[in-house]
Amino acid sequence: MSSESLSIVDNRTGTSYDVPIVDGTIRASDLRQMKVDADDFGLMSYDPAYLNTASCRSAITYIDGDKGILRYRGYPIEQVAEEAGFLETAYLLLEGELPTSPQLATWEKEIRGHTYVHQNVTKFLEGFRYDAHPMGMLLGAVGALSTFYPEAKQIGDAESRYLQRVRLMAKVPTIAAFAFRHSRGLPYVLPRNDLGYIGNFVNMTFEIGGRYEPNPVLERALEVLLILHADHEQNCSTSAVRGVGSSHVDPFSAVSAGIAALYGPLHGGANEAVLQMLDEIRDISNVPAFIEQLKAGKGRLMGFGHRVYKSYDPRAKLIKRVADDVFEQTGLNPKLQIALELEKIALEDEYFVSRKLYPNVDFYSGLIYQAMGYPTNYFTVLFALGRLPGWIAQWEEMLTDPEQKIARPRQVYVGEGERDYVAMADRG
Ligand code: CMC
Repeated sequence: MSSESLSIVDNRTGTSYDVPIVDGTIRASDLRQMKVDADDFGLMSYDPAYLNTASCRSAITYIDGDKGILRYRGYPIEQVAEEAGFLETAYLLLEGELPTSPQLATWEKEIRGHTYVHQNVTKFLEGFRYDAHPMGMLLGAVGALSTFYPEAKQIGDAESRYLQRVRLMAKVPTIAAFAFRHSRGLPYVLPRNDLGYIGNFVNMTFEIGGRYEPNPVLERALEVLLILHADHEQNCSTSAVRGVGSSHVDPFSAVSAGIAALYGPLHGGANEAVLQMLDEIRDISNVPAFIEQLKAGKGRLMGFGHRVYKSYDPRAKLIKRVADDVFEQTGLNPKLQIALELEKIALEDEYFVSRKLYPNVDFYSGLIYQAMGYPTNYFTVLFALGRLPGWIAQWEEMLTDPEQKIARPRQVYVGEGERDYVAMADRG
């Protein structure tokens, strides 16, 4: 018997089994051999919300939630955020290695060549209501890109996958910027390919009358935020991209499923929820009473807690530094004072300490986006721009993994047993 195995005795039958352990996991399908009789389907594992189930093998992002470690392709997030650009980070996630200078130049040039969207995309964006949530616009428009590029269905063709990857990286910022302008009733600003990736995006959002004065500190701060969001292994939206992509749909549809998942307040929508929470608290003097309410089970401290990090989220530490740079430029945001007080109290309070609840990436990011001039309902769009390379890299990895099949979980049926149909006239 290998020492890298698990011995299980099925007490229903007295039978013993040895199940191999590989990379700290057992295969759930190895449980199926454990049956009470020949008709038995076999044992399954029950794991609602996948609290303890690895659904894939991945070489993209490493997280140690207890130690607060995050690495992209082996590189510590602290070093990537300090040294790299966003497109360089995207290349790293997608290709597995940092680009050489010519590789980066080619990657940037290819993306620059695809930043325009079809004029009809502009038309249907114009059809959204004036107050449409930009995440709804983004997820609809990115899904609709599949209708403009039907060849994207050739998911078995590596060259086609590469082209769609370039298109997504190039066009999603354009659509995101158009959604921003839409909410303000401003004309859409076309991409300017003489600007860098971040500069072009910021210009498309804020340019007025052909003019925009770039602020390099704020642009670099936005770039660092996007880098910090670029991948986070099997989170809800990435799992959505993988799950939907596993049906072999085109990447635009798969990514729009990721955008939909990110929209929710427990995921990417949390940064928006943090700002709403700070608005509700209104004044620093109301913080203690607010904390007491949370402890009594009334709501959650948004921007706190994480499924994986049970210590300080390393991204939140870096974001605090970005916040210092940004507020030096824009002046202090009064809500920052409330946030700092909330953090201080929560980090000392037994309720939060015993549950290992620390600030996550969303606690300060919203405050920074607001200081940059982005409205609350736009924060999750900025998160989506950052997460895009991660979604595409994970989609590609899923497709090229010979072990993956269409995602299809099992269930434990708890409904009625068989019963006869009751005619309408006989129903109570
Ligand atoms: N405020 C107050 N209590 C909390 C919070 C919070 N933010 N988060 C968890 N708890 C409590 C929860 O009530 C539970 O207490 P008890 O054991 O007494 O029932 C305990 O902590 C464990 O919570 P859980 O719901 O089992 O934890 P989870 O791993 O399922 O949830 C989470 C993770 C991120 C959804 C959750 O912490 C949360 O709702 N946080 C607020 C929303 C938020 O900031 N989300 C952004 C996540 S980071 C960005 C991203 O990846 O999208």
